[in-house]
Amino acid sequence: MVSRLDSADARLDFDAARAAARPLGERTSFRIGGTPEWWFEPTTEEEAGEVLRRCRARGVPVRALGGGYNLLVADGTIGGAVLSTRRLRFERLHDDRLEVGAGTPFSGLVARAADLGIPTISGCPGIPGQLGGVVAMNAGGRHGSVGDALVEVAGFDLLGQAFRRRIEPGDLGYRTSAFQGLVVTSATFLRDVTLDRAAARRLFEEASLWKRTTQPLGAASAGCVFKNPASYGGSPGPARSAGALIDRLGLKGERVGDAVVSTLHANFIVNEGGAHFADVWALIERVKARVRGAEGVELELEVKVWR
Ligand code: EPU
Repeated sequence: MVSRLDSADARLDFDAARAAARPLGERTSFRIGGTPEWWFEPTTEEEAGEVLRRCRARGVPVRALGGGYNLLVADGTIGGAVLSTRRLRFERLHDDRLEVGAGTPFSGLVARAADLGIPTISGCPGIPGQLGGVVAMNAGGRHGSVGDALVEVAGFDLLGQAFRRRIEPGDLGYRTSAFQGLVVTSATFLRDVTLDRAAARRLFEEASLWKRTTQPLGAASAGCVFKNPASYGGSPGPARSAGALIDRLGLKGERVGDAVVSTLHANFIVNEGGAHFADVWALIERVKARVRGAEGVELELEVKVWR
């Protein structure tokens, strides 16, 4: 049940933010996770900065939450405040640039990429999440990454200090970016007005089909659990994929409680319904130990862990 002081009030006020706090299992694609002490949902960039400054003044630690698609959250109370950027949804056109709010669902942008003039993200269907998290993770795959057309990112540091940064070489890495640990409020793409719409649509269709047939998109999961090992080049390919490594060891279907290594793509762990943090964690440890033992490779987590 939603309390009377619901999330509509949880923009700046600590009492409303405490009342609005719900288990993060309701807000994460893994469907796992306990309740933060405060839940803030600013509706403007100014409010987001104000939340951060007020939390700082009270000594309350803050974590930023995008769509919750790449996150494994512990059960029980999560100390501090969570700042959700999901209400920061806007599109601002500045000449040949399009600035988009961090709370915008990425899949919608990808589907409209050709019309919006940012065809390079047409190769990113099936990547869930909201733009802020997608940018912070530099999410993508074999058909393209969000970073391909990105020119600028704006937001705040955790103390509430605003930034607006032009993308520089080195800002975007393999499943990482210079924006990790910051609160992203918008991302700006360079528009290509001479684009080939038909080619963008073809890329979209091809990438969609690939995703649908190779990944358990409908299941409760946090996407790929591990990064592809750096020693293998960090990019997709039969010999370079953590999923292929785990698969070769026969670990598809391996389970702890309701946490199961996906039978479709071995780098996904799916929650079949009642998985707890501890189940997923034990399964992660088991997979890591098997890969370490068999291949001498130390798998690194791609999913972020809050505990
Ligand atoms: N493979 C297997 N068994 C498996 C999974 C994969 O043999 O269980 C093989 C595939 O057949 C293929 C190769 O491994 O030959 C690579 O697989 P895939 O194309 O699925 O790519 P990946 O490296 O496993 C990466 C990203 C995905 C992204 C895909 C496709 C990482 C950690 N993962 O996976 O991103 O969707 O490429 O573009 O970089 C995510 O980040 O959450 C994610 C799902």
